[in-house]
Amino acid sequence: MVRSKHQNHQSLFIRRGLAADADDVYQWRLDNLAIKNSKRTRQTFDRTAHQRWFDQLLADPMRSLYIGCTNGMSVGLVRFDTKKNRRVEVSIIVAPQFRGHGLSKVLLESAIQVYLNGNSPIFEATVAKINVPSARCFHKNGFYLAKESRDYVVLARHWSGRNVESDWKIIEAIQSIRRRNNTNWMDILKLALSSAPDEAMELLQRISDDDARVNMRLKDLTDKK
Ligand SMILES: CC(C)(COP(=O)(O)OP(=O)(O)OC[C@H]1O[C@@H](n2cnc3c(N)ncnc32)[C@H](O)[C@@H]1OP(=O)(O)O)[C@@H](O)C(=O)NCCC(=O)NCCS
Repeated sequence: MVRSKHQNHQSLFIRRGLAADADDVYQWRLDNLAIKNSKRTRQTFDRTAHQRWFDQLLADPMRSLYIGCTNGMSVGLVRFDTKKNRRVEVSIIVAPQFRGHGLSKVLLESAIQVYLNGNSPIFEATVAKINVPSARCFHKNGFYLAKESRDYVVLARHWSGRNVESDWKIIEAIQSIRRRNNTNWMDILKLALSSAPDEAMELLQRISDDDARVNMRLKDLTDKK
């Protein structure tokens, strides 16, 4: 069991899921947001179907369910499903009444700590693009964009054992500076186009041609895969 503090400085305990959690998990899975954001379960299911799914989940050695508890209350779950080639699919639900308090990051982080137990998996989470809180939660736990389709992204994290918490903070700081600096670059462009449009266009054309050359080299590289 892992004990951590979340944003409201309350203790969070992580424990294995039990048969007695079936009702709580049913309520959380049934919640509209959870259904809307799940790739597989885009429709409601009855209690019997849920029980079948839940029993199979607990009995399957390739799948692990963890429950987060605060003040004796169950506040959410993290599920790990082992796939091929070290890949482990991760999903998270925070109980509807506990959402929006910054719980998801520490719930995921703590569940990962308990799950790892000396393993070095590649975690993957499929997240709906509209699901901003979920994407934030995975990004804050060091997941990066691995794949993208029209409505979903796959966020992944290779586990090497290195403590990367402070690395993510530095990377997030760089990301936010870059975002701001991008606005500065676009402002220069606007200035150039309004004060010397012909010369600015000529320069832009050269930049675009060179970018095309770089892209061709990149394609040479990726075609070799
Ligand atoms: C996804 C989920 C676990 C996130 O938990 P949560 O308690 O709602 O989110 P948190 O309060 O921990 O916030 C996480 C981040 O999202 C941001 N956030 C929260 N609600 C938001 C909203 N409605 N819109 C935009 N951002 C939001 C928070 O500011 C925070 O970002 P920050 O750390 O940069 O400040 C929860 O919403 C949930 O259970 N959803 C249903 C199931 C689901 O979608 N699971 C994910 C599929 S794998």
